[in-house]
Amino acid sequence: MFKPQLPVASAFVLGLALLTTACGSKDSAAPTSLYDRMGGKTGIESVTDQLVANVGAEAGQASSVMVRSHKPMLDAIGSQNGQPATDPTRLQRLRNNVVDQFTDITGGPIKYKGQSMLVAHTNMKVTNAEYNAWRALLDNSLATNKIGATEKKEFAILVDAMRNDVVNH
Ligand code: HEM
Repeated sequence: MFKPQLPVASAFVLGLALLTTACGSKDSAAPTSLYDRMGGKTGIESVTDQLVANVGAEAGQASSVMVRSHKPMLDAIGSQNGQPATDPTRLQRLRNNVVDQFTDITGGPIKYKGQSMLVAHTNMKVTNAEYNAWRALLDNSLATNKIGATEKKEFAILVDAMRNDVVNH
């Protein structure tokens, strides 16, 4: 009896191809991390550097809200009163920790190893007004870096989840 070897083989190959395509399309539709959608390493570094620059610029203004809580840092890097720096790398260390933390919370490949937010901000007595001012400076950085509206919302939720550990301690 005639056995349609070739069509069966073809159907098998076609089936395999369809399966592969289906798997491939499933992969490409897999949700991308917020980290990747914010531009990965370069994006997160850029958001952090702009935040640091915004805080620095705000701290230099007569009406600054940031300067009170950041005074020990500003003194350490010698950026105020013409005094020599006592710890010139302190700002760089903070910046690197913030990069790691933003990477961590957005699902990136680095685990934040710094102090907990509660410990880091204890005795700083950050007020609600100071927090809101800092958040506005972060929002400005997100805008400068052209972070999309969806990503901005997702990122804000992750950041604001730490608010209670930062404010009033
Ligand atoms: C959810 C919001 C915030 C996050 C995620 C955050 C993140 C961080 C991180 C990662 C550190 C470094 C901790 C370490 O070195 O182990 C830090 C320290 C610090 N933060 Fe925040 N922070 C937030 C809000 C604020 C606010 C609102 C202020 C002030 C208005 C502030 C002022 C500071 C200062 C002055 C330091 C210490 C730097 C030093 O002297 O070494 N932070 N923060």
